[in-house]
Amino acid sequence: MSKVIGILTAGGDSPGLNAAIRSVGKTAISAGWHVIGFRDGFRGLMENRFVRLDGANLSGILTVGGTILGTSRDKPNKMPIGDKLLDMTDVIIANYERHHLDALVCLGGGGTQKNAYHLSQHGLNILTLPKTIDNDVAMTDVTFGFDTALNIATEAIDRLHSTAHSHHRIIVVEIMGHNAGWLALGSGLAGGADVILIPEIPYEVEKVVESIVQRSREGKGFSIVAVSEGAMPVEQAREVQKLEARKQGAEDKEKRKAAADRLAEIEVERTGNTLRLTHRLEEMTGLESRLTILGYLQRGGTPSPADRLLATRLGAACVDYIEQGTSGVLVAARGDDAIAVPLEQVAGKRKVVPHDHPWIQTARNLEVNLGD
Ligand code: F6P
Repeated sequence: MSKVIGILTAGGDSPGLNAAIRSVGKTAISAGWHVIGFRDGFRGLMENRFVRLDGANLSGILTVGGTILGTSRDKPNKMPIGDKLLDMTDVIIANYERHHLDALVCLGGGGTQKNAYHLSQHGLNILTLPKTIDNDVAMTDVTFGFDTALNIATEAIDRLHSTAHSHHRIIVVEIMGHNAGWLALGSGLAGGADVILIPEIPYEVEKVVESIVQRSREGKGFSIVAVSEGAMPVEQAREVQKLEARKQGAEDKEKRKAAADRLAEIEVERTGNTLRLTHRLEEMTGLESRLTILGYLQRGGTPSPADRLLATRLGAACVDYIEQGTSGVLVAARGDDAIAVPLEQVAGKRKVVPHDHPWIQTARNLEVNLGD
């Protein structure tokens, strides 16, 4: 029985998205199905902007970065329309039905899993794949995009060693990962960083300084400091914790709003954390310090073979699950297999680095300073 499936990519772009689109598309077409790609995430689905995917436009995209469909961070139930945020769920449902979709495959990170669950709760047959360089999607061993970004960040750290030891400098490198430290911790270890700061372990600058000064005493005139973009000093983390509690718990509406406003201010302040840290390290150690922010380089270019393999096998498994009539699930990586995890176990959750994770233990064994 021929089926019609829709596919979209949402959230930040990531290496491996086109590999996943290709795999879902080719597997479905080989089963005699029809595949419709919606443009720019949930926005294109709402506006009914689409392209029929076939052998021709699926050819040659395995190694291409980004997403041929385009993406956005627009949410089905809070869609920016003019200067308003409107619930466009019903329009999306109407378009899903207009195309007689048997299923809709959403490729995305944490936010997309939540948006997909929302549509699943409204009766659409939704399956998702775990995409993000942050590796913070719950219930999957790993997300595609992570391995490529790990390679990019590690190569950057390798290259930054040259200027660090030539100039006897502290080189601070800011690494993406949103509010999870996987990318900074993994590339910091792989790249031999001397200090690794991640959101899960708020840092004390004094402890970082102490470790760098100790290195100097041992004749190592340079240090590499890998910092996750979401890492923060302990005082900031304490304030955030207090405000989060007040935002949830305060009876007084004004107090809740005040807490939310202050949290929004801190979100902006946090973008300057790494630069402030760089300056403080120079002041407190007397060593020149320089900052490199890797930013979107970590999302660019061709996916690594590992990401191509992961995206391809999850995409093919996704079509198998549709064939079996499964929906409302994340098709997650579990060892060499793919498993179907109900979206309610994924939506709204973030996989962060546990304090007892083997990579943390490894860092401590090597006396890498983690800011605590
Ligand atoms: O989620 C992937 C990611 O690259 C994060 O690491 C980063 O914080 C965020 O996206 C940046 O978002 P945007 O692409 O909207 O600037």
